[in-house]
Amino acid sequence: MELIDAIRSRRSIRGFTSAPVPQQTLSRILDIARMAPSATNCQPWEFIVLTGPSLETAKRVNIEQAEQGAPIAPDFRALPPNEFPESYGERQSTLARDLFSTIGIERNDRPKRKEWQLKGKRFFDAPAAIWIIADEAIFNPQHHISLVDLGIVTQSIALTALEFDLGTCIQQDTIFYPDALRKALAITESKRLIVSIAIGYPDWSLPANRFRSGREELDSLVTWKQ
Ligand SMILES: Cc1cc2nc3c(=O)[nH]c(=O)nc-3n(C[C@H](O)[C@H](O)[C@H](O)COP(=O)(O)O)c2cc1C
Repeated sequence: MELIDAIRSRRSIRGFTSAPVPQQTLSRILDIARMAPSATNCQPWEFIVLTGPSLETAKRVNIEQAEQGAPIAPDFRALPPNEFPESYGERQSTLARDLFSTIGIERNDRPKRKEWQLKGKRFFDAPAAIWIIADEAIFNPQHHISLVDLGIVTQSIALTALEFDLGTCIQQDTIFYPDALRKALAITESKRLIVSIAIGYPDWSLPANRFRSGREELDSLVTWKQ
């Protein structure tokens, strides 16, 4: 796939076929994505690939924690959507409104909204997930620049996946409970869970996968200084 086509056509995939992704393919994707640039070439990323029983464990922990009403406490902190500053909050609510409308969930249909949220916590039933992790030695409040590196490698994975006919959904809602996840999956305490990528073959019959999110106009983003 051409690079520009890949960048333009990538979209979040929120439903997958049950076909497994060969380990060789996942390994190849990560091998390519690790060529991403990073500040001082410190390459702060590490990857945990979840498939089979480990993926089931992560799903179980996520569902249990959500059902118990455990506090959301991701390693990479984020405001809840209802506390976003104004214009960003507007983009977030537009996304929620349009996505729910595409998949046929009414604004006040709480059971269906909850069902959808739980689907998210199950990695949208993807056959595999990749967690981008970083050691607290480099990912910490004194060293924010690593976040740029971690974002670049994340996008590299999402784009490379397209070459293998795979779809991805970059997610934070699958790593809302990092302490419980580290414990259940025997992940070293110092490893911070930065972001999660659900990965698999898209189920194109699902309306969610036909959804296209909007973007701000270029003119509103660029200041030309001469
Ligand atoms: C850091 C990050 C976290 C995200 N977390 C979630 C998530 O928890 N659940 C979800 O459904 N989508 C999540 N997304 C996907 C975004 O909603 C999506 O990228 C955005 O709406 C743009 O749509 P597109 O990816 O289809 O172009 C996340 C994306 C990023 C980059």
